[in-house]
Amino acid sequence: MCGIVGYIGTQAATEIMLAGLEKLEYRGYDSAGIALVSEGELDRVRAKGKLRNLREKLEMQANPAQLGIGHTRWATHGKPEEHNAHPHTDTKKRIAVVQNGIIENYRELREELKKLGHEFLSETDTEVIPHLIAEFFSNPPAPAHAHIPSLLLEAVRQAVMKLKGAFAIAVISADFPDELIVVRQQAPLVIGFGQGEFFCASDTPAIVQYTRAVLPLENGELARLTPLGVEVYNFAGDRLKKTPRTLNWNPILVEKQGFRHFMVKEIYEQPGVVRTCLEAYLNHQWNPDSDQSPINLGIPTELYSDLEHIQIVACGTSWHAGLVGKYLLQELAQIHTNIEYASEFRYSPPPITANTLTIGITQSGETADTLAALAMVKERRENQPAKYQAKLLGITNRVDSSLASIVPDLIDTRAGIEIGVAATKSFIAQLMAFYFLALDLAYHRKTLSNVQIEEIITELRQLPAQIEIILESQERYIEELAHEFTETTDFIFVGRGINYPIALEGALKLKEISYIHAEGYPSGELKHGPIALLDAKVPVVAIAMPGKVYEKTLSNAQEAKARDSRLIGVIAMDDKEAAETFDELLPVPQVNELLSPVLTVIPLQLLSYHIAARRGLDVDQPRNLAKSVTVE
Ligand code: F6R
Repeated sequence: MCGIVGYIGTQAATEIMLAGLEKLEYRGYDSAGIALVSEGELDRVRAKGKLRNLREKLEMQANPAQLGIGHTRWATHGKPEEHNAHPHTDTKKRIAVVQNGIIENYRELREELKKLGHEFLSETDTEVIPHLIAEFFSNPPAPAHAHIPSLLLEAVRQAVMKLKGAFAIAVISADFPDELIVVRQQAPLVIGFGQGEFFCASDTPAIVQYTRAVLPLENGELARLTPLGVEVYNFAGDRLKKTPRTLNWNPILVEKQGFRHFMVKEIYEQPGVVRTCLEAYLNHQWNPDSDQSPINLGIPTELYSDLEHIQIVACGTSWHAGLVGKYLLQELAQIHTNIEYASEFRYSPPPITANTLTIGITQSGETADTLAALAMVKERRENQPAKYQAKLLGITNRVDSSLASIVPDLIDTRAGIEIGVAATKSFIAQLMAFYFLALDLAYHRKTLSNVQIEEIITELRQLPAQIEIILESQERYIEELAHEFTETTDFIFVGRGINYPIALEGALKLKEISYIHAEGYPSGELKHGPIALLDAKVPVVAIAMPGKVYEKTLSNAQEAKARDSRLIGVIAMDDKEAAETFDELLPVPQVNELLSPVLTVIPLQLLSYHIAARRGLDVDQPRNLAKSVTVE
């Protein structure tokens, strides 16, 4: 969840690190800090709260250091106070460390180090690391690895061998002014290669403005960055041969480009995202007479063979995409599908079923619970008879993430980097992945005819233009409507069938960025309890698209109206009956009910965005949240 940056080279490090931290602030933002090494001294500056507080402090002191590390924090151990902010140092303040992740055995290590005379000044797990490194210099615990050329690297390696948990670390020391050491163990860490300068970061947006040549470290690797180059080692101390690769995306993706917030920029990018997915995954030569699949997901068809069951694991918005996926897989591919919260699955896993495909969805590819659930599936199915062996598939927006080290096959959702903490375009891209997967399976299982598949593809192709129509026709109106809800304290969202997940997603978007209490329900459940909450102060947003649950949803909306709730309807354009039912209308183009979630979610994203923006809240970095939740 936290963000790490580091720099070694020929330029002043401070500004490079602040710019990098700004791009990582989405990972955590309750405190920030940097440490610099120059002229044999270690200088550390930290501030509670947003990065701007750190920037203000740094403006008062110009430090020409060309070596530094920085951190933006999402508190796990210890309150978001300055003394808990990273970097942390050893007692003599010669070594500084930033960490993203969790050191599980920090309590034992801390007690041992205290007995050796080390003093601790924070409540964090990270603080043990600089002390462990310092201890190596005072009392070397084991002979240094013969082939390791640097004492600092060796000290970090030996410290890391004592740590349990998932972490990424960057270390500098006043006694080693030409070295920056980085480590990756189950938390992301990427190295950037410049001309005579090198960078490290938790995520590529922090460095893409300086270089596109990057090397993501793998688990169990550490690297030494000097002004002359980068050396990579495994934890055993063996040097590894690694070549950087070139990122194909451009720095503009991590700029707001005139939009007020990343979230609204990303909402507007959605037609383009859907076009990219259509371009990438449709077999454009296909026609109903051809004998290959219309879909080209780049995953082996063995994943589909003898398939009887699909289980999906995910968290948050990705879970909502998975729920839409369940409807699609069952309806189009006729395959029994269940979906679990990854955090629940881990502690109450269902019995192992035969011929089962497990799909993990995570836009970041770093969500700890989702990764652990997938790892658990792998472990439980090891040494089982063939039909119980694990078949794993990941759906992610970050194919370079930790997910790739757990599942052999991935669908890349291609939404482009998403900076706003509230997921929007990555959600739409996940939905697209499920349409393609369900159609591919339907083709292979022959649950739909080629003509039926072609009809759905034709409709999918219309989605980008239909999203554009919503954005053009609705934004102004929704912005005005949002003004009326800035003081509202509770919202209910309802939908049925394939739009039930969209009701959940609408409620989640609203609560996470506007801090207004919101709940999503299947419309039919309203009268089984939640209806007791309704009165004139509680608006109800209902998704009522033409299809098999249309009439029922309208009746459920009427029940809310009878309790004086203000009714907001996401309805099909030109639907007069629905228009008469609702007080406020959020119309979207007419569409096949199965495809409607791609459209119905758009006005709900805009509604929550405008309510939050109108309330003057930090839309892109809502309180207490982080973009990738790398702790359990
Ligand atoms: C909601 C949101 C979170 C994430 C959840 C899972 O807008 O962003 O609910 O969806 O933390 O994250 P990923 O998809 O990265 O696994």
